[in-house]
Amino acid sequence: MEMIRIRGGATLSGSVSVSGSKNASLPILAACLLIDGPVILDGVPHLRDVDSMLQLLENLGVAWTRQADDSLLLEVQDDHEVRAPYHLVRTMRASFCLLGPLWAKRGRAIVSYPGGCVFGHRPVDLHLKGLGAIGAQLELGDGHVHATGRVQGGNVFLGGNFGSTVLGTANVVMAAVLGSGETIIDAAAQEPEVADLCHFLNACGADIRGIGSHRLVVRGVDALHGCRYRIIPDRIEAGTLLCAGVITRGEVEVLGARPEDLSAFLDRLRAAGVSLELGTRELPINRRTDDGLRELDVNAAPRIRPAAKGAGKARTGDLVAGDLDERQGSLMADRVALPGSSGAADSEGEAGDGGGVATEHVPFIRTLPWDRLDAVDVATLPYPGFPTDLQAQILATMCIAEGVSVITEKVYPERFIHCAELARLGAKIHREGPTAIVHGQRRLRGAAMMASDLRASAALVLAGLVAEGRSEVRRVYHLDRGYEALDRKLARLGADVERATES
Ligand code: EPZ
Repeated sequence: MEMIRIRGGATLSGSVSVSGSKNASLPILAACLLIDGPVILDGVPHLRDVDSMLQLLENLGVAWTRQADDSLLLEVQDDHEVRAPYHLVRTMRASFCLLGPLWAKRGRAIVSYPGGCVFGHRPVDLHLKGLGAIGAQLELGDGHVHATGRVQGGNVFLGGNFGSTVLGTANVVMAAVLGSGETIIDAAAQEPEVADLCHFLNACGADIRGIGSHRLVVRGVDALHGCRYRIIPDRIEAGTLLCAGVITRGEVEVLGARPEDLSAFLDRLRAAGVSLELGTRELPINRRTDDGLRELDVNAAPRIRPAAKGAGKARTGDLVAGDLDERQGSLMADRVALPGSSGAADSEGEAGDGGGVATEHVPFIRTLPWDRLDAVDVATLPYPGFPTDLQAQILATMCIAEGVSVITEKVYPERFIHCAELARLGAKIHREGPTAIVHGQRRLRGAAMMASDLRASAALVLAGLVAEGRSEVRRVYHLDRGYEALDRKLARLGADVERATES
């Protein structure tokens, strides 16, 4: 297994780009089950969770390939399979959002009940409530949910004791877009990733209104066509990189993230005394597809040669993107220009004044070295509140702030597995139920740590950046599930970080 070795003490500085959003990519990939024809997705990050979803889709008859310009080309080639098996679903709970699209498009779905989670109980009752409200007949058996029946539309309230449900909203929206009914979802999740899914589906011909609000109205349509779509930037990765700048008292510029997706997080950084600079920079487009197709022109789009008859499940090897001209050049991770503020698709690259090189206005958020870092209180909430996925990262940052921080988890009350590992570096954290009391100004000393969950792992890496001496974060595959080359990005900012094999 791999681990990350860190020598603490470096002050980070420089620019780094965020990758496309994991939590927007996963439901959008699942939504490809609904689409007749090829889909091209730009900005899908190279992550273990994306690989897991692609493997599930391949088992469900979706042919896909990473193209020369790093976009993903996908098309349903065989729609007979309706089962998402346990051995794949257990590797990633987000697979449960295959249930809605699979049922709506193929009339039947058998999806494994998701397993446990390291940060507490994560039921799916709201998913089932929502799908049942629009026509699904649901039976639970042999550890799987069996869905049959027809999409009829309906009204459903998706609020639970901890707010709305992100993937539950995604599941119901993806089921409701086809057919003849109208579906009203009250207490819909308002996360940018849910909005991105809705924008993608509308780009494919769906009729979803109220995007970004707590009330979505979905009118079913007969069919959805393919399109080309760019995934929004990953706001959680952006927040993690900004924490790396803050915890090392550095000047770190994060390119591509949309500040409006991070307003609650940025508010807490400012309250802690961190000065931030926001703006846009004109950067050359490093995408090879500088035409940036939005609507896929089927004639111009690469054709996918169907798998040879009887060749079993579609394999990526059967995919030949017919007339894709090989564009050279690499998508350089530290310079890629991600879309500007528009959520639905990136801005057209205008020929800048740089001698005809196409450029794009890319937003940036920059941390500046602070004089004093104050402890702040944080409570996680559904969007637009403080994101639970940045709780571990800001808690690690508060370990060196002046004063005592009270950090309360109102989404996942048990999500504090990182506290025990941070204590091994010398952090002083006291747990009281859904609250962690963090005593700041701690001198952290490097130690070996064990990663356990995606965001907790990132918090351990952040602490290692500022701990004296060497730290090791083992089982780094947890990190690779949701961060694209985080160690390389931190190293580019000057961190003494290397990936090694656990002895
Ligand atoms: C999504 O998970 C994200 N995952 C999570 O990010 C994120 O932490 C979470 O939303 C909250 O923002 C993806 O998008 C792939 P929920 P999801 O349903 O949809 C309760 C990461 O690190 N609930 O919004 O599964 C639930 O227990 C991951 O990238 C029910 O009670 O989360 C929780 O307390 C981790 N019944 C709250 O709602 C349900 O049927 C929010 O959960 C569903 C959820």
